[in-house]
Amino acid sequence: EKAGFEHFMMKEIHEQPKAVLDTLNSVLKNGAFDLSEVGLSDEDMEKISQIYIVACGSAYHVGMVAQYVIEDLAKIPVRVELASEFRYRKPLLDKNGLVIVVSQSGETADSLAALREAKEKGIRTLGIVNVVGSSIAREADNVFYTLAGPEISVATTKAYSTQLIASYVLAIQLAKVKGQIDEEQYSAYVEELKTLPEKIKKIIEDKERIQWFAAKQANAKDIFFVGRGIDYAICMEGSLKMKEISYIHSEAYAAGELKHGTISLIEDGTLVIGVLTQSELYEKTISNMVECKSRGAYLMGLTTYGNYNIEDTVNFATYIPKTDEHFATSLAVIPLQLMGYYVSVAKGLDVDKPRNLAKSVTVE
Ligand code: M6R
Repeated sequence: EKAGFEHFMMKEIHEQPKAVLDTLNSVLKNGAFDLSEVGLSDEDMEKISQIYIVACGSAYHVGMVAQYVIEDLAKIPVRVELASEFRYRKPLLDKNGLVIVVSQSGETADSLAALREAKEKGIRTLGIVNVVGSSIAREADNVFYTLAGPEISVATTKAYSTQLIASYVLAIQLAKVKGQIDEEQYSAYVEELKTLPEKIKKIIEDKERIQWFAAKQANAKDIFFVGRGIDYAICMEGSLKMKEISYIHSEAYAAGELKHGTISLIEDGTLVIGVLTQSELYEKTISNMVECKSRGAYLMGLTTYGNYNIEDTVNFATYIPKTDEHFATSLAVIPLQLMGYYVSVAKGLDVDKPRNLAKSVTVE
């Protein structure tokens, strides 16, 4: 059942190229997106003036990425919120808003409660859900099914990757409907998405390099992930993967925030992982990493092929293929999943069933 892999998590990491491709193909017709199965017409989309993304855990981290991508491409304001906060906050919702609930299981108690809260207020709801017929899928006005297939490992990998794809598809379609991009740009984005599965595959093929580095981190006490913009959102996911399965305390920081407190935690040898996929922010994050280094940090840099000068700063560099920077999360997350996995394995932990955690959190 693990198809020759030692753990479900590694099997599911390897299933990502297919899961991403399947999800993409499910909404692609003749080179354009067709969201009729989802039930969102271009007319429906035209009316949307505000988006709220509500989710828990990794699905919330997808929301953080989606916020950047949707706002940048479609120029629609997006708010991202933890479902457990949203449900009790008595949120003020725009009546032309769309509430998007992201959930692999479709059964997460807080996400379901948030969905009901939105429906009660008469706001249109869309579920991005993996499990067919789950509560969120049944109750949402519209459903965008991710085609990740069953995910067994508690640490999500392929479901996260397919949720990202669904978010990009919505962002691109909204951008077109809202007149923010022309046909040519639209097709270019669609074509770029089609290249992601192969690029993900290539990163996974290089896994031994990450394994070698990760195995040396098994005794780490703390690990910090730093980045800006979309890279900060990736850091949130990398950090959750790490703490969830390797039991190492880790934090994700917006790189510019380090000076406002966190940098005092850096000691001799503390591992700081910088994520740098956004060229406009590259130099800014590099200088934050240099600041960490001068306080004794040991640095890993995750960036795009070509940025080889990162090796002047970091102790260990790992590279991902080039893509449109809006979609870089889909590639950058892979080495971070592998890091979490291999640290957990090096520590001899139960990778697929980490202590105190359940695959789906159906009670508050
Ligand atoms: O089933 P859901 O997507 O609603 O689950 C949300 C979170 O519980 C989930 O993403 C959790 O954070 C994962 N274990 C992270 O790997």
